[in-house]
Amino acid sequence: MTKPKLILDVDTGSDDAVALALAMLGGEAELLGITTVNGNLELKLTTDNTLRVVDLCGMGDRVPVYPGCAYPLVSTLNPHSAQSLRPIPKREGSGTGQFGMHSDHLPLPATALAPQKTSAVVWMIETVMAAPPGTITIVALGPLTNLATAMRAQPGFAERLQRIVLMGGGDATGNETAAAEFNIWTDPEAAEILLQSGVPITMIPLDATHQAFLSAAQAEEIEAIGTPLARFVAALLRDRIAGYAKRDPEMAAKKIAPLHDALALCYALHPGCIRRSVEAVCHVDLGGGAAYGRTVLDRRANMVQEKPNCTFALEPDRAFFCDWLIGILRRAAKH
Ligand code: BDR
Ligand code: CA
Repeated sequence: MTKPKLILDVDTGSDDAVALALAMLGGEAELLGITTVNGNLELKLTTDNTLRVVDLCGMGDRVPVYPGCAYPLVSTLNPHSAQSLRPIPKREGSGTGQFGMHSDHLPLPATALAPQKTSAVVWMIETVMAAPPGTITIVALGPLTNLATAMRAQPGFAERLQRIVLMGGGDATGNETAAAEFNIWTDPEAAEILLQSGVPITMIPLDATHQAFLSAAQAEEIEAIGTPLARFVAALLRDRIAGYAKRDPEMAAKKIAPLHDALALCYALHPGCIRRSVEAVCHVDLGGGAAYGRTVLDRRANMVQEKPNCTFALEPDRAFFCDWLIGILRRAAKH
């Protein structure tokens, strides 16, 4: 069976790092390349962190990394927007990343690997336009600036994609604000460009990822696999459990944390890992107020005039997801 051809668009980032490692070592996909974007940290850092993970996985000669957009399209331009009050992209030395969850540098040695000179946007366009139509899936795990820019720059780019699987959005909850999830909030206009593009999109929002948590006991299980990669994943998971404990009493009590981006990758390879989803019309609030960046999911059934523009995941098969993730780390230990 031919493997799905994937491009991973990331803002590494601790959960991006886990997704990247699973994509590279799981052997389930043909990974054409990795593109990086401003998000959890500034572009220089998300690119450096991505290269460190590629190095850890021993894939430096096989998986090229292309740096993309260093700023969101619009959201930081308005001096009165919430985004403009924050240091976006976050500067080296800020040491916190989103919610203190993503330190500037992942706990991995510095790498001699270098990023490609071609911009992520140019490479994505060339790669997608050169491939047979409908053969490439983009798994987007950060703000959607690179993808939206490619769509605006190259007529026919969107139509040529097989689909986009993205981690982002939330119906019942936000995380960066009460209304908005971080990836969408960082570049709301980019997300809306995607949602108007006509590309088949699956959104893996907070509603799904918060239910696909891993526990402190699973961090121990992962640590016991004993490889540098497994120890790295266990350390990230523990950090995230500590980070979530500070802001969510329920997660604190259960000693759990989500690894959002890894669930989106899992879905791209195993759609069955989402048990319940809705085909729906979804748009992003671009009003610039308290709901700026919110994904507004229209659930009014027969009252909706517009055709659904996405599949919005609501409930994961958590057991499948955890077994898949730990299974890849165990298999990688045998090679
Ligand atoms: C998303 O925001 C980032 O911090 C994570 O890497 C994930 O992609 C979760 O809201
Ligand atoms: Ca991310």
